[in-house]
Amino acid sequence: MASVDSTGSSVSGRLRSGDLLHAGLAVALLLGVWTVGGLEVSTGKVSSIEAMNGSTVLLPCTYSSCIGIENLYFNWQYNDNGTLIKLCEALIPMEGVEPKVRVLHERVEFVGSSKRNNISILLWNITFEDEGEYICFARNPKEKNRNHSAIFTLIVVDQMKEVDNTLTIIIVSALGGVIGLVIIVMVIKAVVVHFLQKDDEKNKECLVSSSGNDNTENGLSGAKNENKGTPKA
Ligand SMILES: *[C@@H]1O[C@H](CO)[C@@H](O)[C@H](O)[C@H]1NC(C)=O
Ligand SMILES: *[C@@H]1O[C@H](CO)[C@@H](O)[C@H](O)[C@H]1NC(C)=O
Ligand SMILES: *[C@@H]1O[C@H](CO)[C@@H](O)[C@H](O)[C@H]1NC(C)=O
Ligand SMILES: *[C@@H]1O[C@H](CO)[C@@H](O)[C@H](O)[C@H]1NC(C)=O
Ligand SMILES: *[C@@H]1O[C@H](CO)[C@@H](O)[C@H](O)[C@H]1NC(C)=O
Repeated sequence: MASVDSTGSSVSGRLRSGDLLHAGLAVALLLGVWTVGGLEVSTGKVSSIEAMNGSTVLLPCTYSSCIGIENLYFNWQYNDNGTLIKLCEALIPMEGVEPKVRVLHERVEFVGSSKRNNISILLWNITFEDEGEYICFARNPKEKNRNHSAIFTLIVVDQMKEVDNTLTIIIVSALGGVIGLVIIVMVIKAVVVHFLQKDDEKNKECLVSSSGNDNTENGLSGAKNENKGTPKA
């Protein structure tokens, strides 16, 4: 819009840009209808996951289609260094009818449901060899067999999380220690202040008379305030 305004100084220019605008709008509308109408497969907002070896991971995938589905074919494939290995496949006859899934991998379990447009799978007991790209593929005959796919990346990590845990424990205990130390220091301070206060009362005349000692009194009153706060904690 802004560019149209800047170039549209002459009448002809304005006309041309107006035509362009209409053409652009038409194209955008067509594209919009095209994309909204077609099938879409998605692995969700997060397209990769880091999981520990030995764990079981969910490989998520959902589909959506405004024109509806009929005999929707889908499969999951693993990209083994360029070679696609089929993990499972199925046909969803129509919306809401659960597919009979043919599973071709011993550790794959279909956990989706066509009622929720969900064609996710579980991969059990993962090993480091399972790392890589998993492709969720779908084809809807209703829209000229156009192919749709989404890629999900699995990263298998060693039990590094435990190191993180120990680090957290170290940090937490260190923090706890520091807090404990602070409390001890405060208690000691309170006790010392308490005794100093008693001394104060005895030496009050001396403190008032000299300016140098004023600071000590300020410091002490500050300590008194902190001292009041401690019983609450
Ligand atoms: C994960 O891998 C490490 C090193 O290869 C191994 O020691 C550990 O037992 C494995 N964990 C599981 C649960 O398989
Ligand atoms: C993967 O492919 C590359 C070349 O494309 C090859 O050098 C490598 O050995 C392959 N790795 C496996 C595990 O097959
Ligand atoms: C995963 O591992 C557990 C324990 O080792 C085993 O009981 C289970 O059968 C395995 N599951 C699959 C699907 O391999
Ligand atoms: C798909 O189904 C699985 C298993 O029931 C569930 O864990 C997952 O959250 C579902 N995904 C979506 C996007 O609904
Ligand atoms: C869709 O994928 C199949 C393989 O599953 C392939 O044979 C076919 O040519 C693809 N169609 C298009 C339009 O890309």
